[in-house]
Amino acid sequence: MSTITYTEKYRPQFHFTPPSKWMNDPNGMVYFEGEYHLFYQHHPNGTTWGPMHWGHAISTDLIHWEHRPIALAPDHNGYIFSGSAVVDWKDSSGFFAGKAGLVAIFTHADQYPNSDRPRQRQSLAYSLDKGRTWTMYDGNPVLYSEEIIDFRDPKVFWYEPKQQWVMVLAAGDRVHIYTSANLKDWSFGSEFGSLDGSHDGVWECPDLIELPVNGDLKQTKWVLIVSIGDNPKFTEGSRTQYFTGSFDGYSFVNDSGPETVLWLDHGRDNYAGVTWSDINLSNQEKLFIGWMSNWKYANHTPTETWRSAMTIPRVLSLRENASGIRLMQKPVVELEKLRQRSTTYKNIAVVPGKNILSGIKGDIFELICEVDLASSTEFGFKLRMSDSEETVVGYNKVTGKFFVDRSNSGESDFHGEFPCMHEVQAHSPNGKLKLQIFVDHSSIEVFVNDGECVITDQIFPAPSSTDMDMFVIGGEAKVESLVIYSLNSIHGIYGI
Ligand code: FRU
Repeated sequence: MSTITYTEKYRPQFHFTPPSKWMNDPNGMVYFEGEYHLFYQHHPNGTTWGPMHWGHAISTDLIHWEHRPIALAPDHNGYIFSGSAVVDWKDSSGFFAGKAGLVAIFTHADQYPNSDRPRQRQSLAYSLDKGRTWTMYDGNPVLYSEEIIDFRDPKVFWYEPKQQWVMVLAAGDRVHIYTSANLKDWSFGSEFGSLDGSHDGVWECPDLIELPVNGDLKQTKWVLIVSIGDNPKFTEGSRTQYFTGSFDGYSFVNDSGPETVLWLDHGRDNYAGVTWSDINLSNQEKLFIGWMSNWKYANHTPTETWRSAMTIPRVLSLRENASGIRLMQKPVVELEKLRQRSTTYKNIAVVPGKNILSGIKGDIFELICEVDLASSTEFGFKLRMSDSEETVVGYNKVTGKFFVDRSNSGESDFHGEFPCMHEVQAHSPNGKLKLQIFVDHSSIEVFVNDGECVITDQIFPAPSSTDMDMFVIGGEAKVESLVIYSLNSIHGIYGI
């Protein structure tokens, strides 16, 4: 086996990656006794999707992760597909002799006996030692359906008003909601969505969370997050949508018309993301992480010893803007710990043809910019740039669209639909724009206007493509402030 150095080409330096081999969805995220747990879909013997296990890592700051042995491995009930974990505070399951403990609720995937028809059933495992080791429940599976083929990815939470557990589960083209008193016996509550939102692909990995609107704890909404799988007919591949509405412990009611589609991310590489259980933030925001890849090309990205990373962890909140109530994402504050040297500019004019950032280099960095677009028609940055490569990030005032263009960002011949540009309608209140950008060895994440819209993309630039350009087209812009922080590696390689 080759040694894991974390210096391999394209290896992210501040994003979570498996030490080696394949990873997809984040699973079972839960916070317990001062530790954040992150499990993940893992094929420990290959760098492409295969027999699924739950890999595991633990962190006390969401940034530095201690890799743990595999938590759940396939057994007589099948592979271990996606799912969640909760703290069973009152020992409702009876697994913990009256104390609190961790229960994982996940999909066992195999085939019906003597057939190749897929079978997906929900099962439990529990841990008596703060997630270090796991025992399969001997009553598995606890929930199944003979009719529905795609029946997976249980996300469970405690619903205080009715003193019951609630499970949201992907069931083909819709979500099923179940309730339980003990995590073992589940009753059908309702279903949602066969006619709502996007059905460009099969529904997967739902999550249902309650969030205050504009931080007002007295006015909350429920957000249903639903990932939709790849479909060769659509160039976007797999992506994630959400609905806002109400929830009474049994059913979710969509606030928007069925035709409304709200995307969680406008890039290509934020999939199957869900939130951490048992986080008690005072403002009731939620913590989210997504798989930073896309089923369209996930098995072909140009890394050798491992494949895929997670997004940076993000805080989710709801804000009402001119378009309605929208999900906001911002990077967790813990990332600020990685900031090292900074380059700062204040109140500078940006004029066509002059690159103020020539001479500045960066391969892993955070860039924060507040700009008055003034007379410009387009303003933006070229990052991870060389004579032959660039990732372009910008805003066009005429179309009102924010974009990331990775057409020429580096290695991209592994899939015909990887090189592309995508855009999103973004507000520029009073002609101003605020950007926060995170760049790593193989990704870019852009948060526009405090996370009102987000673009998350993988890129594979040459390690030597480290130049930057700040450009303007059609007139001048005024950069009110610009800070570029080089970031420390979480692997302790750079600058320590
Ligand atoms: C989403 C998904 C889930 C499934 C898992 C299998 O990416 O397809 O629906 O549980 O991956 O690895």
